[in-house]
Amino acid sequence: MNLHLASIEEALERWLPPETAEPSTIHRAMRYSVLGGGKRIRPLLAMAAGEAIRADSPGIADVAATLEMIHTYSLIHDDLPDMDNDDYRRGRLTCHKVFGGAMAILAGDALCTLAFHVLASLHELPAETRVALVLELTTASGTCGGMIAGQVHDIEGERQRPTPELLDRIHRAKTGALIRAAVRMGGWTAAADPAQMRALTAYGEHLGLAFQIVDDVLDIEQSSAELGKTAGKDAAQEKITFPAVYGLDRSKQMAHAEWRAAIDAIEPLGERAGRLRELAELVVRRKT
Ligand code: IPE
Ligand code: IPE
Ligand code: MG
Ligand code: MG
Ligand code: MG
Repeated sequence: MNLHLASIEEALERWLPPETAEPSTIHRAMRYSVLGGGKRIRPLLAMAAGEAIRADSPGIADVAATLEMIHTYSLIHDDLPDMDNDDYRRGRLTCHKVFGGAMAILAGDALCTLAFHVLASLHELPAETRVALVLELTTASGTCGGMIAGQVHDIEGERQRPTPELLDRIHRAKTGALIRAAVRMGGWTAAADPAQMRALTAYGEHLGLAFQIVDDVLDIEQSSAELGKTAGKDAAQEKITFPAVYGLDRSKQMAHAEWRAAIDAIEPLGERAGRLRELAELVVRRKT
């Protein structure tokens, strides 16, 4: 796992323009948010999925890094005053608190742009693979069932009656889509066959749901210091969450069931999927 983490950090460091590059404010803001911590779950999932298919896939750390760029952009915007209005992220002040709202919006936009620049630049991958990766990441981030769709439902859902249908729609899109894409991008990069891709996709869908259930539970059970972001925000903002719809105990059972289903889905991938099993465990057992 550490080797994967190190290559993800190296790829991020390499692709992010240096602080000295003009205009330096935007590059400082981008680097502040991307390189300032984070569990790196999505890039780790991409690398573990690639490893489940073959030992070495050229370019996979760069592909993985693009997921972290999109994810960090979504967090910078999620924290803005007109969205969740958060002052803390990853144990420090949010991007807009340090650099101002305009620069935070632009840093998010810039990370989104950079992700697709990187994918298009990966000449070690066949052109058709690069196109598949771009399609996968744009679909997962977009407005038709992707991350932005989920964020729209999440914001519009505030103070609405929490129903299972609305909850499912929000969570599959705002978090599930990018986690599903992470494992599928690992699969594309490693040239997975259709059956392997189906196994990875099912794993990603179940784990994506487990991930957001746990995020909702931690928002209630953990302290802000432990989370590195403001705890208790979902209830304060009347968000539609798993605990709001099903209660805490049932939510935890559901996270466990999704974890189980994720593990079962990758059974056909055998021993090589060991890291995917470890990551699934980490997602449900994490405390931050
Ligand atoms: C938090 O994601 C936002 C959600 C999509 C729930 P993470 O818990 O992966 O945040 P970092 O990247 O580790 O900070
Ligand atoms: C954020 O969900 C999801 C995205 C950024 C796409 P949350 O609003 O629940 O994330 P946190 O709890 O602020 O990290
Ligand atoms: Mg939010
Ligand atoms: Mg938030
Ligand atoms: Mg949350």
